[in-house]
Amino acid sequence: MPKVLITYFSHGGNTRKMAEALAQAISQAGCQAQTKKISETTLDDLRGADGILLGSPCYFGSMAAQVKQFLDESIALFGKGELVGKPAGAFASTGGIGGGGELTIMAMLSGLLIHGMVVQGLRKGGHFGPLAIGEPDQRVLDECQRYGEQFAKLVTKLAA
Ligand SMILES: Cc1cc2nc3c(=O)[nH]c(=O)nc-3n(C[C@H](O)[C@H](O)[C@H](O)COP(=O)(O)O)c2cc1C
Repeated sequence: MPKVLITYFSHGGNTRKMAEALAQAISQAGCQAQTKKISETTLDDLRGADGILLGSPCYFGSMAAQVKQFLDESIALFGKGELVGKPAGAFASTGGIGGGGELTIMAMLSGLLIHGMVVQGLRKGGHFGPLAIGEPDQRVLDECQRYGEQFAKLVTKLAA
């Protein structure tokens, strides 16, 4: 069964709830989904995953420092291209509309693209990845469900 790692930082729990909703959708779609705090995630976790989702609250219009630090540490995998071709995506929780939620997602996606990963978009809804304003409401949970299903399909296809 393909493995999906959902690694996130969350101080207040909003981003964590999105990670959990994504994990549920991904498991229902036939992949093994593991959620992990970014502080507990290792480079070997990235190596061992068939697909990786990265989540962060929007802090000053970008990802939280903890997430950026982990991305910076992942340079250790860059030299040999260890993440090239793996499916990836990003999700975020922000304080308000126009607060920088999409920028936060795009900043994380930049890191994943620079690794040579294959990013899953979303045709309907948050095109760049699931985005919540504060606590995820039903709209966001539905978006996590749709994104999770789509992501699991991509991971299953590429892991075959
Ligand atoms: C240090 C800090 C910076 C923040 N910067 C922004 C910001 O630039 N734009 C915004 O919309 N919300 C901002 N917020 C609000 C958080 O993005 C929002 O509360 C989010 O839902 C928190 O997610 P969490 O519960 O997973 O920690 C900030 C919060 C903190 C603590």
